[in-house]
Amino acid sequence: MQKKRAVFLALVSAATLVGGGAFAVHAQSTKVISSYGPNNQDMTFDQIKAARLAVKAERARTHAALLASRYDLKEATGDARMSGGKAVPIGPTARLGGVTWEQLDKMTPEQIKEGALFPYPPLPFPDHAEGGMLFPKMTIDVLPRLTRFDLDFDLPEHVLPDKAPPIFLTTRPDLGDVSKGKVITLENYYATFNGLLNPKQLEGLRLLVTQFPQQQFNATEDRRTDRADGMIGVACFDCHVNGHTNRATHLVGDIRPQEFRHRINTPTLRGVNVQRLFGSQRAMKTVEDFTEFEQRAAYFDGDHTMAAKKGVNVLERGSQVHFMSEFMAILDFPPAPKLNIYGELDATKVTPSEMRGQSLFNGKARCSACHPAPYYTDNTMHNLKAERFYKQILVDGMMMAHDGPIKTFPLRGIKDSPPYLHDGRCLTLEDTVEYFNLIQQLHLAAQEKKDLAAFLLSL
Ligand code: HEC
Ligand code: HEC
Repeated sequence: MQKKRAVFLALVSAATLVGGGAFAVHAQSTKVISSYGPNNQDMTFDQIKAARLAVKAERARTHAALLASRYDLKEATGDARMSGGKAVPIGPTARLGGVTWEQLDKMTPEQIKEGALFPYPPLPFPDHAEGGMLFPKMTIDVLPRLTRFDLDFDLPEHVLPDKAPPIFLTTRPDLGDVSKGKVITLENYYATFNGLLNPKQLEGLRLLVTQFPQQQFNATEDRRTDRADGMIGVACFDCHVNGHTNRATHLVGDIRPQEFRHRINTPTLRGVNVQRLFGSQRAMKTVEDFTEFEQRAAYFDGDHTMAAKKGVNVLERGSQVHFMSEFMAILDFPPAPKLNIYGELDATKVTPSEMRGQSLFNGKARCSACHPAPYYTDNTMHNLKAERFYKQILVDGMMMAHDGPIKTFPLRGIKDSPPYLHDGRCLTLEDTVEYFNLIQQLHLAAQEKKDLAAFLLSL
């Protein structure tokens, strides 16, 4: 009995190692499901690295095959530009399993589920059993310290935001983009912002671009970067680049076991001043709370024991958290010259298609029920029950489970932040229109979908 248990534990620990991540004991390989991550103090960095490298190529192949089966990933862009000048990707990119959009539109949720035809089930993380913070190449090119030896970002750059998104300040709209086209880092933040911000905001910005220890980026043997020197750690603006986003990805900290955790898509910080709920599901009530929670818990997958081991940086609430939040609260949405003071289209400035799109948005398509002007969010959450359309099965290491209630993300400036939804499963605005057409059972005609997408681009 004793021996059997030892063998079983060895198996568990082997599975943990191969998975490598914080909570990689998955249900398929063992009977033990723990809320806690492995304690790797009995392994060396080299052993952990070797175990990760042993599975790297195979997991990358499996994930690439899944993406290729779901999406057409070749570059397709139109005339529309993000506020930093990058071309907005166009879609829909989702591949349909032998039906047309028109046929899909006529099917019931049950029929779509039975036929495994839903184009937008949850998107797994590149290595879902492993997880962790993962940065797109365009950001690693600027900040090489963000390189992971075990995992590469999965989505192509043409479906990601500007690599150096503009920064618009609510306090100085007259200045336009104050980033001057560069990624703001610890090296250049002071020269760029001294004289523009008050001292509290300047100090808040310094903290937002300063890296601190995190689950994959730390000095212990249990890290996923070769470096263990003074450059270790991540900064808020490594993901929320220039206060916007590079759509770096992570697994949500709130859910267990591992295969049920959502992939999450870094949201923009533009417009946090007008919002009341933070996190796709956490529903934190203030930016201050979210700032504290990011570093204390989300950085370590919601595991305070790991945070203690790896060197959590506890921010001081009255000054540091407050200063960081004060800076975040002046990050404005990008200019939308076609909108009037109600956040609605100015009839003298728009195309007929945009105008029809607005009528659909507020009428037949009922988007405004959850996304009312002027910021196009109702500041609450909704359960869209996407699981009506797919079966709960394990795909690429992730359970295709219920999303549950999710925050209504604002749509102001939405063209700047592909890919869309909390996990990035809709690569383009056209995909989000197809998504809601099915979710809401709207039965929109092809031209109506085009008009809605045109309206979204004008926000
Ligand atoms: C992996 C890169 C990453 C880093 C680094 C990061 N964040 Fe986030 N941030 C995210 C993701 C992903 C979410 C969405 C979380 C969720 O869905 O629960 C988020 C959400 C937020 C939100 C809520 C936004 C909203 O619209 O609900 C705030 C505020 C925020 N982060 C601030 C910060 C601060 C401050 C820091 C530094 C202490 C930071 N973030 C570091 C990825 C990151
Ligand atoms: C019942 C409420 C509801 C309705 C109706 C609704 N939405 Fe949403 N919308 C949401 C929620 C909740 C999310 C976040 C879902 C997620 O991340 O999984 C969202 C997300 C989005 C996003 C992506 C935002 C981002 O930052 O990634 C777009 C675009 C969008 N909605 C457009 C529309 C359009 C267009 C319509 C009408 C055809 C519509 N929505 C109807 C609640 C709604």
